[in-house]
Amino acid sequence: MTQFWKPGTAKPRLLDDEEGGVLFYSATPSSSHSYGYASLENQRQRLPVFKYRTSILYLVETHSTTVIVGETGSGKTTQIPQYLKEAGWADGGHIIACTQPRRLAVQSVAARVAEEMGVKLGEEVGYTIRFEDVTNSDLTKIKFLTDGVLLREMMDDPLLSKYSVIMVDEAHERSLSTDILLGLLKKIQRRRPELRLIIASATIEAKSMAAFFQIRKRRPRLEGEDSGLRTEPAVLSVEGRGYNVQIFYVEEPVSDYLRATVSTVLSIHDKEPMGDILVFLTGQDDIDTAVQLITEEAQNSGKSSLGLIVLPLYSGLTRADQDLVFSPSPRGKRKVVISTNIAETSLTLEGIVYVVDSGFSKQRFYNPITDIENLVVAPISKASARQRAGRAGRIRPGKCYRLYTEDYFVNEMSSHGIPEMQRSNLVSSVIQLKALGIDNILGFDWPASPSSESMVRALEVLYSLGVLDDDAKLTSPVGFQVAELPLDPMISKMIIASDQLGCSEEIITVSAVLSVQSIWISVKGQRELDEAKLRFAAAEGDHVTFLNVYKGFLQSNKSSKWCHKNFINYHAMKKVLEVREQLRRIAQRLGLDLKSCENDTQVLRKAVTAGFFANACRLEPYSHNGMYKTVRSSQEVYIHPSSVLFRVNPKWVIYNSLVSTDRQYMRNVISIEPSWLREAAPHFYQQQPMNANRH
Ligand code: CDP
Ligand code: MG
Repeated sequence: MTQFWKPGTAKPRLLDDEEGGVLFYSATPSSSHSYGYASLENQRQRLPVFKYRTSILYLVETHSTTVIVGETGSGKTTQIPQYLKEAGWADGGHIIACTQPRRLAVQSVAARVAEEMGVKLGEEVGYTIRFEDVTNSDLTKIKFLTDGVLLREMMDDPLLSKYSVIMVDEAHERSLSTDILLGLLKKIQRRRPELRLIIASATIEAKSMAAFFQIRKRRPRLEGEDSGLRTEPAVLSVEGRGYNVQIFYVEEPVSDYLRATVSTVLSIHDKEPMGDILVFLTGQDDIDTAVQLITEEAQNSGKSSLGLIVLPLYSGLTRADQDLVFSPSPRGKRKVVISTNIAETSLTLEGIVYVVDSGFSKQRFYNPITDIENLVVAPISKASARQRAGRAGRIRPGKCYRLYTEDYFVNEMSSHGIPEMQRSNLVSSVIQLKALGIDNILGFDWPASPSSESMVRALEVLYSLGVLDDDAKLTSPVGFQVAELPLDPMISKMIIASDQLGCSEEIITVSAVLSVQSIWISVKGQRELDEAKLRFAAAEGDHVTFLNVYKGFLQSNKSSKWCHKNFINYHAMKKVLEVREQLRRIAQRLGLDLKSCENDTQVLRKAVTAGFFANACRLEPYSHNGMYKTVRSSQEVYIHPSSVLFRVNPKWVIYNSLVSTDRQYMRNVISIEPSWLREAAPHFYQQQPMNANRH
């Protein structure tokens, strides 16, 4: 294997300017030695945020909004909610909320805080993520939740009246839900000045955040002002306690970052003193591949395989796998954690001394002109690169290996990322705002305004889905029903359509499958998985295939052995059962009839079309390589190799999502009849020449 990157030959460079060499404050070296043995209480008091406990409580007491900036690992997420509780903010039946953009982070920090407080998770400390509520309405005082879940809670409780303090964490990530949440919280605060907000973030975007919450001069007096509560935001910066991190760059650009990752990790393991390695890759696929390659190569190279523990970290891991990542490496062993962006700021791993940064992450991109949104492996920003490097300086001076050149970092990397709001399809957001009674969406106070094209596209799709009427108000009942379901509006619409078509049992199963990560186990040889898939493959496409898997799983009596034999992820299937039950309950509440269509796949596909008509594609006539074009905007797309329709290439298909690598690939594909499109969405397709041979 080619060594793309050679530590040791590349001149180590220690930068010391703001381009990011010495990223961290120097620290008192004594603190790390006994770290592993310190009691939890001791550990709590050593966190940088502890010194600010009194100031934080004072600011929260006296200000409606407090912006807190502090290095990752300084204790913001785990400590501040506890301080608030200790100070009485959860008395009188109130709850302290802390939001996170990521589900895995929610689960993990909640577990940690419960442990620190010595309580059972789900009682005094609980968490809620979509489809998983581990709280107790009588007992829970500190609640961790995703920002998306808090948005949903507003539908039932528009002023979020049960919360005394809401800490919006990881605000620097500028996730779509975080930004919408911030906009809405600002509104809520005008009606409920006693509600305290804490905006916590890892990087210095404090100014713009504070400016957003700055209430303009000319305004009616707020109730809170009379009580001495200050309405202008306070800003507090928590001084970090990291060690220096030495940065290495590759000399030449690497062409294959996966290979480069593998060789870098092995060479660190060979040459560098003990200390865990954290690798940043982009998603489950490349992480699983890297875990496999590193494990294999380490075994092949003999002695060095001893002492290497290679672990993945991405959302959708089971609890047990998460625990492995967080538990300290056994003596004499070196842990290699291969992670998505989640370890950049959301989660702190303790023993990391080396970081390998691929320079990429998976990001959502939406193009309003083509109306295409997909997940793209895209270069990270300088701000992210610095955060990643910083993970190496937690317990002692560390090293960060960047798989890109210094020239690239300095001259080409953008300094900050673009808020997700400005690179997302806004269909979900618009419907949520509408459901919350916000009619003037263009005039909404966004922390970062989305483009008007995206907004218009979203309104158009929602209109075609029958969710909005001519006055851009939610329709009754469809609009309200779609908003009520905690799913992508297209999936929700598919479920509602299935009611009339008499296939809601099946469509709810499909929706549950689409809501879990993947029901297939990624395996060594793709061939084995392909063969396993063939056992379930349906000519109509992936959705019907999912139903076959589900049936097989039920027939096996939900056996884990059966799953294993068929390369199906048992935990994912259990999750499917759970989600399915929840969706059935919601559907019943919405007054839908739960009916089965038995084996009528035509009505099933019609229901899919009713939700996903906007994603229709047509096989290019005379195409030799399976090229499709989207009906909407004539974009070139291909069926993803993981689909059962790969190489089958029916003439007309609908996809669930797109991923972009070398090409735009359609994931989860089903074949349809073109006439169904106009039936499902006459407005949307009125001008499309459905049957003409276009080139
Ligand atoms: O939020 P921030 O990045 O400022 O720090 P934090 O997440 O509150 O982490 C504070 C400390 O708790 C760190 O030392 C983490 O390693 C530790 N922690 C942990 O051991 N297990 C978790 N699941 C979460 C945090
Ligand atoms: Mg945090």
